[in-house]
Amino acid sequence: MQRPTGTIDGDSAAAPGEDRAGDNPAGGCPVAGHGAASPATADASAPGVYVPPFPLRPTSPPPIWKLIGLARRNFLSVWPTTAFANPWLRVAVLRKQIFVCNSPDLVQEAFVRKHDTFERKSAQMRHALEPLLGDGLFISDGETWRRRRQIVGPIIHASKVRDFFPVMAETIAERRAAWAAAGPGAPVDMLQEMAHLTAEIICRTIFGRQLGGDYAAEVVESFTDYQRHIDQIDLISLLGLPDWLPRRRGRAIRRAVARIDKVLDEIITSYEARRSDGETSVIGGLLEARDEDGKPLSREAIRNEAAVIFMAGHETTANTLAWAWFLLSQAPWARQALARELDTVLDGRMPEFADVARLPYTRAVIEETLRLYPPVPILAREALADETVGGVRTPKGSLVMVVPWLLHRNPNLWPRADNFEPERFLGATRGGQSKFGYVPFAIGPRICAGLAFGLTESILSLAILAQGFDAELEPGTDVQPACRLTLRPGETLPMRLRPRASRT
Ligand code: HEM
Repeated sequence: MQRPTGTIDGDSAAAPGEDRAGDNPAGGCPVAGHGAASPATADASAPGVYVPPFPLRPTSPPPIWKLIGLARRNFLSVWPTTAFANPWLRVAVLRKQIFVCNSPDLVQEAFVRKHDTFERKSAQMRHALEPLLGDGLFISDGETWRRRRQIVGPIIHASKVRDFFPVMAETIAERRAAWAAAGPGAPVDMLQEMAHLTAEIICRTIFGRQLGGDYAAEVVESFTDYQRHIDQIDLISLLGLPDWLPRRRGRAIRRAVARIDKVLDEIITSYEARRSDGETSVIGGLLEARDEDGKPLSREAIRNEAAVIFMAGHETTANTLAWAWFLLSQAPWARQALARELDTVLDGRMPEFADVARLPYTRAVIEETLRLYPPVPILAREALADETVGGVRTPKGSLVMVVPWLLHRNPNLWPRADNFEPERFLGATRGGQSKFGYVPFAIGPRICAGLAFGLTESILSLAILAQGFDAELEPGTDVQPACRLTLRPGETLPMRLRPRASRT
């Protein structure tokens, strides 16, 4: 089935002239009949209707020149309205074939059953992160990936989350204390607040609680510096550039990497010197790990894997939390339901590990946030051999993608797909979804190694902070999703903190 180059097509005909959604200054939906947050006069405790912002959707598949222009500005805005309901899509850009799996069956076929053919990350992802992560788990494949996954997986596995829990809780409580000290109505950039919080948590988790404040700050700053530079990498390389083409490695990137290597080396050396304190930490796990042949990891491999965990575990969780605060600020009924749950279950005390499982609404807010704004909105893989997916040919070198941004808003899978409804994740059905239709942590052998860690950290952060505070969006703020390597609510998220009267 050959389709014209440079358009998005799928297995159903595109229907031009569909609903147009678009820019949304108040954070509500501009489409007639869709409300923003429930009006203040309504019963604020009954679930209301809120459609949070999403980029303008072309009414029909855009031509190639427009597609590239759109992708450059925001990769989320290339998808026409019709794309969301299609079980698969195919795009041919320049000479690159891109196949998008947009149904649970096809996600399972490509990412689970045909994992061996589609395990390799896209060239764009590898080139963006290789200077920092080297042969690290996140971007390696084949034997290197398999061996590293076997070592790193258990160190941050769900069964270890209990050990990391005290560090998480302590760090979040410190942040709440800082908010309390800032006084009622304090202005914050919630995106930055959450970035600092999750960076602090992951730093202390990787390097141990005793990591000095100076080191922590240096790690955070040096990674931020690197990310600033790779953020500028042109998304067109995702679409077209061949793998062998040399990439520009700016001096700024090399400097940023040298800075990160230096601080990681110093931390590892100082950790080795005081190794025997018995504390659970990722570095301790990596230093003690032995591969299948009984050999320890090299210093470089340890540095690479520490960098992987910091990078993979920090911004994703920060974005999730920032979006959750934004969504709650627009949905008073959800804020009330959350407060009710926290007050009932915790009654003003700090949550313990067992409490996380007793906070289903808090979890549902996080899960719905991850559905609407998946921090990794595109999962792209390169075909290592000629294959088929859903009976469609995917030649060697083509890109096979799962785009959680599309899948999570597929109206055939999700009723009222663009609405914020944490309630859909309550109860036994938990979203009523096949696990292949909801993939914020990816799926298959390359599923996020820190899934339980990230989910627990998000639930706990929201629980501890929302026990003490609500956050209001600064009036007049236009919140729009911005897609770089991760999906975030723009560059800043200005909010004001309002202490909750009754608790903590
Ligand atoms: C809400 C938080 C998080 C989200 C949404 C998330 C999402 C993801 C996704 C989608 C991938 C696969 C990327 C791809 O296929 O291209 C991934 C991989 C990974 N994540 Fe996470 N993540 C989160 C938190 C964490 C945390 C806290 C850690 C570490 C403690 C972590 C460690 C990793 C690692 C090591 C990989 C690479 C796995 C592999 O390739 O085998 N993640 N994550």
